[in-house]
Amino acid sequence: MVTAGPTREPVDPVRYMSNRSSGKMGYAIAEAARDAGADVILLSGPVNLRRPVGIEVIDIETAEDLYRTTHANIDDVDLFIAAAAVADYRPAHIADKKIKKSESEMTINLVRNRDTLATVSALEKRPFCVGFAAETDEVAAYAKNKLENKKLDMIVANKVGDGVGFDSDDNTVEVFWGSGSKRFPTETKSSLAIQLVRLIAQRFAVASVGESASTATK
Ligand code: PMT
Repeated sequence: MVTAGPTREPVDPVRYMSNRSSGKMGYAIAEAARDAGADVILLSGPVNLRRPVGIEVIDIETAEDLYRTTHANIDDVDLFIAAAAVADYRPAHIADKKIKKSESEMTINLVRNRDTLATVSALEKRPFCVGFAAETDEVAAYAKNKLENKKLDMIVANKVGDGVGFDSDDNTVEVFWGSGSKRFPTETKSSLAIQLVRLIAQRFAVASVGESASTATK
């Protein structure tokens, strides 16, 4: 299962809060996984990309949609790769009519969204979990924090901002896992995705061998 694209958090019937994710990285990962022989479910936020052939695409809009749809479909999933840029907060209240301008300033109260990746990782029967971290600074340090706090198997760190990472066709990433890391030079997202899927499959195989060895000794 792969997540991709942004979420949209409605403010009123005509406005929403969102981010600059195009979905390109997540779609490229989904296609590379399909080409490697996986059955892929792609949970996609609103993007302007062509629907990939041979992949089950489920559209989601908000972070809560993503949370519910993921957990409704996670049972038989072996690998969960979360490339979506999910809103951490949503408006506490969605106005049912278009908000009119009145005062010179206005305040929108926000509430925290549930974290899909962290909750998947916390499941008793959990898939191998790979997160993404988009950071503007201290990329490696923040990514390693997320690896640890969300108890992930791997995290793909990318620097974003100034036309890098979000929305561009290229990306520069460094991947971290418990005992190691690997840096990839700047490449197109599709070429990077092929190499990321290869690396993820290798680490997944190592983890699966470790797990069956520990089950055998119980
Ligand atoms: O879509 P593109 O334009 O190609 O850009 C790709 C990308 C930069 C969006 C992508 O490579 C990327 O880095 N995605 C993660 C963006 C991010 O900042 O994630 P985060 O640090 O907020 O969250 C960390 C991880 O938890 C991510 O795997 C995210 O999908 C997941 N998460 C976060 C919050 C939440 N409520 N639920 C989640 O599942």
